[in-house]
Amino acid sequence: MGPHDELAFTAHWAAHDLGEVVVSAADLRERIAELGQAISRDYDGHPPLLVCVLKGAINFMSDLMRAIELPVEVEFMAVSSYGAATKTSGVVRIVKDLDVDIADRDVLIVEDVVDSGLTLNYLRQYLGARSPASLEVCALLLKEGEQRVEQDLKYVGFSIGPAFVVGYGLDVSERYRNLDGIYTYVGEA
Ligand code: IMP
Repeated sequence: MGPHDELAFTAHWAAHDLGEVVVSAADLRERIAELGQAISRDYDGHPPLLVCVLKGAINFMSDLMRAIELPVEVEFMAVSSYGAATKTSGVVRIVKDLDVDIADRDVLIVEDVVDSGLTLNYLRQYLGARSPASLEVCALLLKEGEQRVEQDLKYVGFSIGPAFVVGYGLDVSERYRNLDGIYTYVGEA
């Protein structure tokens, strides 16, 4: 099955806004299973608290947590760094904070995509100040060469090019989060 067959099959209703498949649903499944195994191994005996960064990481979080064979706990935070545009503003706003104390917990931030790195940099400092036992990151996508802030990412799903992408949780103006795969966006910015 070529990329266009998959596009036609999964997303005919969005096809006019979508370019090529960047990561297929099948590749997501395979890689997330691997990430789950790595996390299960690394955190054996001290299961992490998974902190999902809403909304973009919802699909990833949902699949990743089921790929981990440890009694993990899950929490959610919401941050906003983009508004409705496709370029980063550099301004990060906490829209929803954690509901639990993370002191002495092994915290694993589950993030959708690291682009400039500004969002993650802010989150790390914000959560790091609450004295977790450890604080690491599992990012589904890393935009290569785009980081303005140096990042130490413990787990990365896929390195991708700089193009703006949608699907599997990632949006443009709140749309296309419900696509099964990840596609370049070629509609209006
Ligand atoms: P950063 O602060 O520039 O690293 O941007 C991180 C956030 O911007 C991510 O958590 C996403 O919500 C959003 N973002 C960055 N690149 C994309 C993209 O290609 N598609 C959709 N959202 C993106």
